[in-house]
Amino acid sequence: MNREELIKKLPKAELHLHIEGSFEPELMFEIAQRNNIAIRFKNIMEVKEAYNFHNLQSFLDIYYEGAAVLINEQDFYDLTMAYLKRCKEDNVVHTEIFFDPQTHTDRGVPFEVVFNGIQRALTVAETEWGITSHLIMCFLRHLSEESAFKTLKESLPFKKHIIAVGLDSGEVGHPPQKFQRVFEAAMEEGFLTVAHAGEEGPASYIWEALDLLKVKRIDHGVRAMEDQKLLARIIKEEIPLTVCPLSNLKLCVFKKLTDHNLKKMLKLGVRVTINSDDPAYFGGYLNQNFIETAKALDLNSDEIKTIAINSFQGSFMDENEKTKWISHIRNLPTT
Ligand code: ADE
Ligand code: ZN
Repeated sequence: MNREELIKKLPKAELHLHIEGSFEPELMFEIAQRNNIAIRFKNIMEVKEAYNFHNLQSFLDIYYEGAAVLINEQDFYDLTMAYLKRCKEDNVVHTEIFFDPQTHTDRGVPFEVVFNGIQRALTVAETEWGITSHLIMCFLRHLSEESAFKTLKESLPFKKHIIAVGLDSGEVGHPPQKFQRVFEAAMEEGFLTVAHAGEEGPASYIWEALDLLKVKRIDHGVRAMEDQKLLARIIKEEIPLTVCPLSNLKLCVFKKLTDHNLKKMLKLGVRVTINSDDPAYFGGYLNQNFIETAKALDLNSDEIKTIAINSFQGSFMDENEKTKWISHIRNLPTT
């Protein structure tokens, strides 16, 4: 079996996926039209041409613009369903999805409209295709602590369906410590915690995410390699990193995929995973991220299997389910 066949055959969990980042231009046009919203692009070609980013902020500007056509529960359902269909195609059997309520509530879309649309699609995917999932609610770090607290309050009626809170959006200048109090309040309500850190921001933001926000995983975390003490801690405490190689390439975190430090971290014993982040914007869903990374870094079948095992190990699924998928992967022939 070649590398690509193995990747396609492996059951995988995705741990870093922004549902708003799975908004394909075709669906964006369809929803904009039915909601009577004008978008500044004439056609899909023009949209794709605009997806030329030089850093995180240049992407975020266009990502928030695209999300602004989502108004009704059906829009959130269609968005989520389209992503889950891709999961089925890629043999993603479990996914832990980020959503950004403030992107919508700040435009007057009620929290429950966003939540209900997403949740309804998750239920259908589990019933129809057996894809299991969890939801992670992210606070936008460029907004205030007060706005994050308001969002936390709005989420409480739905908290049994939201496993964790996270932190995303523009990293530099918005360190994790800005959200220490709201994360403490979220933990008191029973939420687990994760945070984007060390994507563009320095290694010190990863320390803060671990020490102040008590995160169970670091989203991205590739800049941990700049701090040996931090790296040793991540290895010792088996803290998963949800790495997103095609995202890192598109946002110029690494110049070339062959420069990516994923394999170095893997060899050092870091629990690295591969994820798609915002696949509609970065040119590939989960298998594409795996295939291109494996090729660029010359990952062998054991390394590919380890990354798939890490995705279950690092997930929030229950231990029995984890064990089931991990032994399935271990028993999968590679020849
Ligand atoms: N929101 C969506 N994708 C993101 C990323 N890669 N980093 C920070 N915020 C995001
Ligand atoms: Zn992300």
